[in-house]
Amino acid sequence: MQQTSQPLTTNAAGHLTIGGVDSLDLASQYQTPLVAYDVAKIRDQVRRFKAVFERAGVDYAVSFASKALSIKAIYQVMAAEGAHVDVVSGGELYTAQQAGFPMSQVSFHGNNKSQAELEQALQAGVGMIVVDNFHELTLLSQVARAAGKHQPILLRLTPGITAHTNEYIQTGQVDSKFGFDLASGQAATALKQALADPFLQVEGLHAHIGSQIFDVAGFAGVAKKLVEVAVTFRDQFDYLPKIINVGGGFGIRYVSADQPKAPEDFVATIVDEIKREAAAANLPLPAIWIEPGRSLVGPAGYNLYTVGSRKEIPGYLPYVAVDGGMGDNIRPALYQAEYETVLAKAPLAEAVETVRIAGKYCESGDLLSAHQNLPATAPGDVLAMLDTGAYGFAMASNYNRNPRPAVVFVEKGKSQLVVKREQYADLVRNDRDYQG
Ligand code: LLP
Repeated sequence: MQQTSQPLTTNAAGHLTIGGVDSLDLASQYQTPLVAYDVAKIRDQVRRFKAVFERAGVDYAVSFASKALSIKAIYQVMAAEGAHVDVVSGGELYTAQQAGFPMSQVSFHGNNKSQAELEQALQAGVGMIVVDNFHELTLLSQVARAAGKHQPILLRLTPGITAHTNEYIQTGQVDSKFGFDLASGQAATALKQALADPFLQVEGLHAHIGSQIFDVAGFAGVAKKLVEVAVTFRDQFDYLPKIINVGGGFGIRYVSADQPKAPEDFVATIVDEIKREAAAANLPLPAIWIEPGRSLVGPAGYNLYTVGSRKEIPGYLPYVAVDGGMGDNIRPALYQAEYETVLAKAPLAEAVETVRIAGKYCESGDLLSAHQNLPATAPGDVLAMLDTGAYGFAMASNYNRNPRPAVVFVEKGKSQLVVKREQYADLVRNDRDYQG
């Protein structure tokens, strides 16, 4: 049997099922390439995160980092689950607005928010703006004054901690484009300026150390660091943060070699650390906010492709080409990201060969997988790539003027189209004839 990153579900015919629906039926009903989400998995992960805080008896917010998937339907699921969301652009904010997401539960991030974006955010009534730099501090104050509003903010700090999948470095990431630097005193200057501003209400502190992190020490480190900073700010400015936001980055299992803890275990460590450090420093326990993106939607996503051509070269792994590729998932080409892929009609079948899964884009680097064990495949077979739910569709493009795929949400045996497949007409909708 093929090794996969997660247990797969099959029906009586032995086909892969997604949310209780046969993946081959999804492929024939909606065509391929198709992005399908098992919505129950998303809900379950939100609930697991919430349970950590409920058990610990602390105030909290689980804020979905919607850059991982920004479509109307996901904001509606997050609203139903009582999650917050964070957005990083006017476009993501607009999508959340169009979805009817409660604006008081939105945090707005970004290292270069424009005046128009800040005006949009204030007009929408966004609950929190995560202020990144001095330019923004001044601009936001002007925009808030003009709107006659008193805007709640968090200050984004550069914690001097960076973490990648399996490593964590203290003082590593001082050189970052995000946030107020701590070591040079920028953060303290920013707090002083914000506290003196009648249009801003400083609710607390924020930091984010990276993405797809497996090392629990990085999260413990950022939690500890933020409490330390809070203690310094209390002593220096008599300021007490109401919220400490430790960002996201909880790693998920893409291939069976990945062995992260469950995302909620990372969060339990963060909560314990903040509780302990705050108690030791006699600091009132702030609310703890997290911003998971990948861990909420990644494992719930499946990309379905149809097999087309095959190329054999003696001495090399064969190329099995599919009808999608870097336009619907650029992560393998961009980050050498690895996934596991199964044959949808027999996901548990014994693998008989190792192949390369090639996309259809005109670039040699457009490989969805550089080595995938698979049973025999033939043109017309459907392949299901697993764990594609984060930063796949979100980073999709129209490269080679391929339309972006449809997205379906599947739950309790029912599927629903939530993003229509682009048509050729969509590709030229904004083009204008040149009157040369
Ligand atoms: N909060 C902040 C401030 C962030 O910058 C990010 C991700 C998150 C939360 C969510 O991180 P997550 O839980 O999803 O790891 N395109 C890349 C990932 C970029 C992540 C950027 N920031 C990828 O495909 O791996």
